[in-house]
Amino acid sequence: MEPTNAPPAHVAIVMDGNGRWAASRLLPRIVGHKRGIDGLKRIVKACVVRKIQVLTVFAFSSENWNRPADEVSGLMDLMAMALSKEVAQLQQEGVRLYFVGNRAGLSPAIRAGLEQAEARTASNTTLVLNVCFNYGGKWDIANAAAQLAAQGMAITEESMEGAMALSHCAEPDLIIRTGGEHRLSNFLLWQAAYAELYFSPVLWPDFDDAALDAALLEYAVRERRYGKTSAQIHGSFKRAKV
Ligand code: FPP
Repeated sequence: MEPTNAPPAHVAIVMDGNGRWAASRLLPRIVGHKRGIDGLKRIVKACVVRKIQVLTVFAFSSENWNRPADEVSGLMDLMAMALSKEVAQLQQEGVRLYFVGNRAGLSPAIRAGLEQAEARTASNTTLVLNVCFNYGGKWDIANAAAQLAAQGMAITEESMEGAMALSHCAEPDLIIRTGGEHRLSNFLLWQAAYAELYFSPVLWPDFDDAALDAALLEYAVRERRYGKTSAQIHGSFKRAKV
């Protein structure tokens, strides 16, 4: 089929499958998460090469606190490690970092690290990387509504969009979930309204450039109708018979 869509400007990813990747090798789950960070670095580079403007990834959900305590603390340690070791490279690649989520639940050290990384990369323009951390779509919607209410502002689609965590970028064009599950798991619930959804069976640590290209290829031939009919999209209206 001929491609009909321009490449997506904004790709969002649920990076699922780290635990199963590790378990299938009889390794601790945290090793899968470490490989997940390597995978993320690879996909950031791939997005830069493909001129994608915004990449949004789900790194830690509001619900991930319910995992075993050692996995939660391991993920927090990985975030602290990534903040100290990976930001310089992202800076070189021209990546602007945003951390999206409820910072109130995070340790002061991690909060400070997130703020420093955002400040350090604030003038970069090659790729926006939104890392959703302690994020939930329901939290985002409720938080935006609460902010508007506190300011006495009317709640409209437009005012909500201005108050939400991803108000600095356009909505995602393509949401990819790796790891074979077919659900959003509280990711970008509002912003997913007209995103194309793509589910890959590949576990996140194995999700490479070729797997990304398969998703982009499928996106290219999807018909994005935004509530219209196919005929309207193609400009081929037929006069109704009388
Ligand atoms: C889902 O896989 C993945 C996560 C909950 C964490 C994603 C994190 C990374 C890719 C690393 C980057 C993160 C930080 C903290 C910088 P899963 O554990 O649910 O896998 P499973 O479904 O196979 O169990």
